[in-house]
Amino acid sequence: MRPAARPSKLDGMTTNSTHAVELTAVTRRYGAGERAVTALDAIDATFRAGTFTAVMGPSGSGKSTLLHCAAGLDRVTSGDVRIDGTTVTGLSERALTRLRRDRVGFVFQAFNLVPALTAAQNVALPLRLAGRRPAAGEVTAALAEVGLDGRAGHRPSELSGGQQQRVAIARALVTRPAVLFADEPTGALDATSGAEVLRLLRSAVDRHGRTVVMVTHDPYAAAHADRVLFLADGRVVDELTGPADAEVIAVRTARLESAHRSSRGGGRADHGSVVGHGAGFGHGNGFGPLTDEVAR
Ligand SMILES: Nc1ncnc2c1ncn2[C@@H]1O[C@H](COP(=O)(O)OP(=O)(O)OP(=O)(O)O)[C@@H](O)[C@H]1O
Ligand SMILES: [Mg+2]
Repeated sequence: MRPAARPSKLDGMTTNSTHAVELTAVTRRYGAGERAVTALDAIDATFRAGTFTAVMGPSGSGKSTLLHCAAGLDRVTSGDVRIDGTTVTGLSERALTRLRRDRVGFVFQAFNLVPALTAAQNVALPLRLAGRRPAAGEVTAALAEVGLDGRAGHRPSELSGGQQQRVAIARALVTRPAVLFADEPTGALDATSGAEVLRLLRSAVDRHGRTVVMVTHDPYAAAHADRVLFLADGRVVDELTGPADAEVIAVRTARLESAHRSSRGGGRADHGSVVGHGAGFGHGNGFGPLTDEVAR
């Protein structure tokens, strides 16, 4: 049995809500007039503290948009997002930046480490941006947790893809966020490195009571989660609760993809327009709000 929600103090984390994240009637529209796209269409979703959710769905179904809105990286058109009990909608830019920095971790498909910094400096970055000097051993412990304490002085270019993603996970978790979002974190990795990343995300939930929300196209990756949400055309259209095996997830995915294709007149799913959104809505080098803040 996996642990249920943990509203109590655990590993330095205090949640004031059993839901790490709550979305209420969240709509995100891009553009205006004839070219307007409704990427999220009145989505209601909650992510319980201490759980691991996978988000799946055809390309263009709104998965990355959902993550960006739920993380406060992108503003919603209407509806409400609550992170760790705080309503994001209506927060000032400054308060939102602080909330993201303190309560949210984000892992991208393309790792998005700062190339000029060592692994240890990358992991320390969120703490430094919060005005904190990392405690002795804090960064080393975070790197050890992902099996990379021996690589502290290496720059991203000196690390394999899998190692870079593990540094990115250490960086995302070092602030003990209320929720860790990961957008196709294994999408650029070989099977072995991908499995290692999934094991780390699972253990962040099981051992440290973190909350993980991961977008993936891979049923095998989704099988590591406690729950799978399926999106299509900006809506939650299906859900599997309880750990499900990859075959069951694959069957649901295939059914969804085929329904999606027929609702679009038999054409292929749209693959063209969303490449690169995982890097995060024009936030500089894609590391996002943290480095934007340095630039300020
Ligand atoms: N900044 C933007 N401007 C205009 N349209 C956008 C923008 N970002 C996303 N969209 C549109 O919103 C819809 C949802 O995009 P999103 O990136 O969330 O899809 P996705 O499910 O993550 O797809 P993929 O699996 O290909 O990554 C798509 O139709 C996309 O073209
Ligand atoms: Mg995406």
